[in-house]
Amino acid sequence: MKQLRYGMVGGGPGAFIGDVHRKTIRIDNLALLSAGCFSRDAEKSRSFGKELGLPSERVYTDFAMMAKEEAKRKDGIQFVVCVTPNVSHYEVCKAFLAEGISVVCDKPLTWTIEQSEALVALAKKKDLLFGVTYTYSGYPAVKQMRHMVESGALGAIKFVNGEYPQGWLAAPIDEESKLAPWRMDPKVAGISNCLGDIGSHIENLVATVTGLKIESVCARLDRIVEGRTLDDNASVMVEYKGGAKGLYWSSQIAQGNDNALRIRIYGEKGGLEWSQEDPDHFTFTPNAGPQQKWSRGRDEFCEEAQKYSRIPAGHPEGLFEAFANIYKSFILALGKKLSGEALQSSDIDFPTVEMGLDGVVFINKCVESNDKGSVWVTL
Ligand SMILES: NC(=O)c1ccc[n+]([C@@H]2O[C@H](COP(=O)([O-])OP(=O)(O)OC[C@H]3O[C@@H](n4cnc5c(N)ncnc54)[C@H](O)[C@@H]3O)[C@@H](O)[C@H]2O)c1
Repeated sequence: MKQLRYGMVGGGPGAFIGDVHRKTIRIDNLALLSAGCFSRDAEKSRSFGKELGLPSERVYTDFAMMAKEEAKRKDGIQFVVCVTPNVSHYEVCKAFLAEGISVVCDKPLTWTIEQSEALVALAKKKDLLFGVTYTYSGYPAVKQMRHMVESGALGAIKFVNGEYPQGWLAAPIDEESKLAPWRMDPKVAGISNCLGDIGSHIENLVATVTGLKIESVCARLDRIVEGRTLDDNASVMVEYKGGAKGLYWSSQIAQGNDNALRIRIYGEKGGLEWSQEDPDHFTFTPNAGPQQKWSRGRDEFCEEAQKYSRIPAGHPEGLFEAFANIYKSFILALGKKLSGEALQSSDIDFPTVEMGLDGVVFINKCVESNDKGSVWVTL
């Protein structure tokens, strides 16, 4: 496939995730950074674009202008990556979709359900691809667990437990912290901090592996550290369509934890357990028989998981490869679409805009539940 051209909005000097996106797209070299609007500060955007080797006419100081100008060019970008803080995701994605440019946006997709619904509708109307970078869906072990659930190894799922504890906000925030300020500010983060930032990863991971649809939630969002406007700890009970139950806990005040995302899935015939801090492995425990430890890169992984495994078992892969896998699937699908080939459902092995909408519904309904006194709320 011919290398595609992409642009980036956000991800300027010192930004966290934009740099990860750029580096992981380079792993497979299927797309080349060709334009960008890296900061709201014009000078920062210009100098950073130069540092990245872009010609000055492809470095913009306003994303709306970038969308218009890139759409006019013969060699314009074929997709944009939106890695700004949550507040601007909707406007950025809308501007590029309106100009006929496909989108990859980081999570959470938007602030409100209505905004996400509008993006789903616009992507459909314009017949464009739209991916949402729920990182953890990209791991081969996650794809293998999904395969095992689909092929019936667990039987009907009865209970799911997901947790994502971090400890970095256990004390009042350090003024120097690069990551904290906007995540704690409702004018930039939206209606939730902890649940929106990391609880949303649990929601997507469980949906990816199990295919379960949430019917209702009962949530309690805590502000453990005094003076915080938004939550720093969230407990959510979940009921799924079909009767399975779940329990999600996300926290930023859990001292001693870095990114301890873990899921446990229990079915009629067996259980699965996976931790993102040991992402190459998971355990499967059938009712009859001993616990099995599965390893990425071994022959027993199914084909759809094997194809995202880059090096032999025992040489650790991690977050960069998981991101690269989302991009590999997205870019190959987009290349196929741009060359006029029909896409099969197996081509869409990345989190879609509809999954982004599900995530935003989950966040909003949990906040609604909490605000009403932790009552059950239907999605
Ligand atoms: N998938 C993941 O695991 C993951 C991890 C971290 C962050 N995120 C998400 O990625 C997004 C960015 O997070 P971050 O930690 O990188 O934030 P950050 O503050 O480190 O970086 C944001 C960048 O966007 C730029 N920016 C802001 N508004 C802009 C605008 N209007 N036009 C152009 N540039 C603009 C800023 O100058 C900065 O360079 C958030 O939505 C966050 O939730 C996802």
